[in-house]
Amino acid sequence: MTDLNQPNAAPMPPADDEIAWQALLARRNDESVPIDNTPVNHLYGPLCRSHRAALKQGTFTIAHLAQSLDGRIATTAGVSRWLSGTADLLHTHRMRALADAVLVGVNTVLHDDPQLTVRRCAGSNPLRVVIDPERPLDGSQRIFHDSAAPTLLLAAADRAGSGETLGCAEILPVARGGTGLDPHEIRRLLAHRGMTWLFIEGGGITVSRFLAAGALDRLQLTIAPVILGSGRPGLLLPEITDLQNSLRPPTRRFILGDDIMVECDFNHG
Ligand SMILES: NC(=O)c1ccc[n+]([C@@H]2O[C@H](COP(=O)([O-])OP(=O)(O)OC[C@H]3O[C@@H](n4cnc5c(N)ncnc54)[C@H](OP(=O)(O)O)[C@@H]3O)[C@@H](O)[C@H]2O)c1
Repeated sequence: MTDLNQPNAAPMPPADDEIAWQALLARRNDESVPIDNTPVNHLYGPLCRSHRAALKQGTFTIAHLAQSLDGRIATTAGVSRWLSGTADLLHTHRMRALADAVLVGVNTVLHDDPQLTVRRCAGSNPLRVVIDPERPLDGSQRIFHDSAAPTLLLAAADRAGSGETLGCAEILPVARGGTGLDPHEIRRLLAHRGMTWLFIEGGGITVSRFLAAGALDRLQLTIAPVILGSGRPGLLLPEITDLQNSLRPPTRRFILGDDIMVECDFNHG
């Protein structure tokens, strides 16, 4: 990957940077985690530092979406594989490996039946968390029976009793808030279980709700050079009429193969 913020950054050599990745992962929680200009350290080192800094508040929460040039994350039928390229896929697995928990919304599980495990790089599988307030999931999806990682289903408190399970997943009742389950309450519940780095992997509704609630520290949008012309939207926030009310966070930009990733920092204080 190339960092567009560095004027003379050379493209990544095709030889893999897995060794640098493993060195960074081993120092994920260290004060001395490297943040130099090598591609792996430059992208992931600052995230590790931000995670350490966020520990006092409970969690470091970062979301990622891959979208088309026209802001779609899937076709209307829900097909999203593979919108972005292999470099973004590797990045997603690295983000899983850095996180304590990876969260997705129920539609993503229904459409993609994802494993949410770390397979393309070194690293341990995070806790898998599905936000499924109304409980349409029936336990037939892979995450409920593959035993690859612990799995937690967050359901509305009026739809689940404590101690209930679905396949090998624990069900955690969460109180309903204004629009669905309160993202801050989700962060608090997961922090209480020692999950301090949360990676929200989609879909658009789930990421939008965290963003609208002010519950995201960072948002990574990978833009693939493709136009769908229709399909499921990525971010959808309450309407604004004045551009002054738009979000203009500080950003970092990276080239991931044919794609460009823009990372927004909502917690730059
Ligand atoms: N390109 C990408 O990066 C990417 C990543 C992931 C998924 N996808 C694709 O995106 C599509 C799914 O995305 P989506 O936006 O339709 O749905 P989604 O975000 O996967 O799931 C949304 C649903 O999750 C529940 N939910 C999430 N957050 C909640 C909260 N805070 N409180 C209450 N409920 C909450 C709601 O369920 P209820 O409606 O039951 O209350 C909501 O309708 C799939 O086609 C998938 O393939 C693309």
